Amino acid sequence: MFPVPLLLLVVYCLPRAYGITVYGVQGPLELATGSAGPTLVYTSDTAAGTAVFDPVNFTGPAAFNPVILAPPPVPSPAPPTSFPINLPQNAQNMPGLSIEQKGSFFGFSMEMSVINQFIGINSTYLQVPFLNLISLVAERAGSVHMRVGGNTQETATVVPSLEGGKVIEKDKADSSNPTETPALLISLEMLYMMANVSSLVNIQWYLGIPFNDTSHLRLQIAEYGESILGDNIIGFQVGNEPDLYPGHGHRPPWWNQTDYFNDFGVVVDAANNDPLIPVKGNLIAPSLSGNWTPESIWDTGFLPAYTDSLSFLSVERYPDDNCAAAFPEAGFGPPIDPQTIFANYLTHNAGKGIVDQYTDTAAVAQQAGKPLLMFETNTASCGGFPGVSDSFGSALWVIDYGLQMAYANFSGALLHIGGQDVSYNPFNPPPTNQSSFEQWTVGPIFYGMLVIAEALGTSNTSQVVDLFQNSNNEFTPGYGIWENGQLVRLALINYVTDPSGQSDYTTTITIGGAQWNEPDATPSSLKVKYLAAESVSVKENITWAGQTLGSRFQADGRFQGDETVQTVTCDETTNTCNVTVPAPGFALVFLSDSAFEESTPSSTPTFATTAVTKTMNTATVPASVLANSNGNSGSERKDLSSTSKGSSGAIQMAGGAPAGLTVLATVLAIAFMIPGFIER
Ligand SMILES: *[C@@H]1O[C@H](CO)[C@@H](O)[C@H](O)[C@H]1NC(C)=O
Ligand SMILES: *[C@@H]1O[C@H](CO)[C@@H](O)[C@H](O)[C@H]1NC(C)=O
Ligand SMILES: *[C@@H]1O[C@H](CO)[C@@H](O)[C@H](O)[C@H]1NC(C)=O
Ligand SMILES: *[C@@H]1O[C@H](CO)[C@@H](O)[C@H](O)[C@H]1NC(C)=O
Ligand SMILES: *[C@@H]1O[C@H](CO)[C@@H](O)[C@H](O)[C@H]1NC(C)=O
Ligand SMILES: *[C@@H]1O[C@H](CO)[C@@H](O)[C@H](O)[C@H]1NC(C)=O
Ligand SMILES: *[C@@H]1O[C@H](CO)[C@@H](O)[C@H](O)[C@H]1NC(C)=O
Ligand SMILES: *[C@@H]1O[C@H](CO)[C@@H](O)[C@H](O)[C@H]1NC(C)=O
Ligand SMILES: *[C@@H]1O[C@H](CO)[C@@H](O)[C@H](O)[C@H]1NC(C)=O
Ligand SMILES: *[C@@H]1O[C@H](CO)[C@@H](O)[C@H](O)[C@H]1NC(C)=O
Repeated sequence: MFPVPLLLLVVYCLPRAYGITVYGVQGPLELATGSAGPTLVYTSDTAAGTAVFDPVNFTGPAAFNPVILAPPPVPSPAPPTSFPINLPQNAQNMPGLSIEQKGSFFGFSMEMSVINQFIGINSTYLQVPFLNLISLVAERAGSVHMRVGGNTQETATVVPSLEGGKVIEKDKADSSNPTETPALLISLEMLYMMANVSSLVNIQWYLGIPFNDTSHLRLQIAEYGESILGDNIIGFQVGNEPDLYPGHGHRPPWWNQTDYFNDFGVVVDAANNDPLIPVKGNLIAPSLSGNWTPESIWDTGFLPAYTDSLSFLSVERYPDDNCAAAFPEAGFGPPIDPQTIFANYLTHNAGKGIVDQYTDTAAVAQQAGKPLLMFETNTASCGGFPGVSDSFGSALWVIDYGLQMAYANFSGALLHIGGQDVSYNPFNPPPTNQSSFEQWTVGPIFYGMLVIAEALGTSNTSQVVDLFQNSNNEFTPGYGIWENGQLVRLALINYVTDPSGQSDYTTTITIGGAQWNEPDATPSSLKVKYLAAESVSVKENITWAGQTLGSRFQADGRFQGDETVQTVTCDETTNTCNVTVPAPGFALVFLSDSAFEESTPSSTPTFATTAVTKTMNTATVPASVLANSNGNSGSERKDLSSTSKGSSGAIQMAGGAPAGLTVLATVLAIAFMIPGFIER
């Protein structure tokens, strides 16, 4: 409707200095018109899609930073590009298998203070893209696990209701908090909202019991959580990164592991004596950040003392931090240049470097009969790194990291979602005031989560092995997945970016055979789904089996395009199947039709984007409407196009103006955005 070149102006309140910064996104910007309506296009980075793009001094929300880094050069020596994979069909013949894993291995950790941006405003006003995205994971994983908590849980207080029916409110009266995390008031409406989400998609929740003050415990979140969410509660975290409490001023400097042991015991006793918490033994700890070792907690006798109260053991870890950039005044030294650390993520050593530190803990957990969770993680704390945390490389990293955790006997990992001032969110709603004319943005991390869900499937019996393939070359890792004792899938990663094609690798797969004392089990054909993008640096045009969730501001949580699955015909004289993995890329190899079908939902329930509120693309409808649309499949897509902003203009704004006019007016009227807190 309007190819109007214009500079997007956004007035943006900085999180702590409440000044106003006006910024223009560097590089020519234009509003283009397409079938999906006007979209923001960064013309300077769309020509090749991979050109380095550095919007110097970008001051907008990190979640939308358009920076594109240079991919690391092809390693020298380059990884060998052809190698065999020979594996037994029968799990009993395979050494080193993990414990049995579930497709829900990867879940989400949502900072409590941003729940109203990501999930909904209240119990009857839910974010449709959120529901669609969760639905995609649930269909593949069987169910979705989400933690609502984080630093903000420690000072949160449950109140019966908040003005205007709000779910949360920052308690501005509280100025005592040294980490600049304002105390949070939570209304019961938040729990009702979560219950409504669980009634629409298969999602269960972890909540956090405040642990800032053991002389005045506030157990209401567990009491009301139990009564409102019931079976949809998985467990309650007690203490988020307690090893950082002294440093953050939440405890005196001398507070140590013994004091933690004692403080934890106070909550254990209180929960045990609280008749309003009927489910006992549902606590999660110790959620250390890495400042204290888990061993130093086990040494206090923690497990024998509290085993009856614990449902899971937990740790939290990020491979790096961007705190110097996030808190320039805090004395962290010069900020890290993301370009210099990008390559750290693009190797098998990245995830393995973290996971190896928990080998003993995983064994301790198994002995204690408690599943071990990586309760909060992502690419880097203090918001991640722009250009790294939101690049295709982070999708490859998170796949490798997830499978490495599964292999090392973690039982789950929650990827953190902060506000819009972080780079690593699996998905982002548009900046608040742009929600009337923009849609969501899906991050590469989300694609990685879908891959893991499909790789592990829905049987709850998946056992994972690091194949150490290609002579354990760090740039070409792979995993095998056995289900019900049979090899069903291979997960193959290529971290190298090489547009020439010279770094694509081909692996020659043989299953079973004499070397394993098994009959040959190489299939006559196999199916392959690729996670693909042009380079590890790009943020857009990422496809999973040929489908995309859309570019920036274009996602409604449903796949776009047709699914393309490659079929490889195997050589039945040599009993080999050749699978090629592009540089960069990921291949999920399905060794049987049933393994493929288990991971490939025939229809994902989606939620219509019927706009009943202010504008055309506001993907927000009352839950009652959603309830009716639950179960509808992709055929709902026409709803989207008929309500898209570029279409006929038949959609009326609340004020009656044709949609298109309002887009222009809104852009020109300068949008405001309310930042979330920097939690990480
Ligand atoms: C995405 O792919 C489309 C079609 O191949 C292309 O026109 C567009 O420029 C690409 N966008 C980016 C950001 O690379
Ligand atoms: C970016 O900020 C730095 C430091 O404030 C300044 O020296 C530099 O000129 C700025 N660059 C641009 C292109 O605005
Ligand atoms: C714990 O948090 C609550 C709620 O914000 C606050 O009222 C209380 O003073 C805090 N206690 C301590 C010891 O900081
Ligand atoms: C939820 O929020 C919407 C939009 O602000 C409002 O119309 C509705 O009344 C609210 N519902 C409740 C139960 O507060
Ligand atoms: C959502 O919660 C409200 C109570 O706040 C309830 O009346 C409504 O039926 C729920 N909707 C769904 C779809 O569960
Ligand atoms: C913690 O400090 C107390 C008092 O100094 C001491 O008795 C205890 O041994 C310490 N615990 C650990 C695990 O270091
Ligand atoms: C994971 O647990 C299984 C079963 O106890 C064990 O055989 C395997 O060695 C463990 N894996 C690692 C990496 O420790
Ligand atoms: C897998 O485990 C979940 C509970 O974690 C359960 O609801 C589901 O039914 C199980 N699936 C199978 C196939 O047993
Ligand atoms: C598989 O790859 C190997 C080595 O790259 C090659 O020698 C062989 O001919 C290929 N087989 C098929 C069926 O393409
Ligand atoms: C946009 O945000 C500003 C600042 O928070 C607020 O005053 C204004 O009402 C918002 N406008 C709309 C249309 O939501």
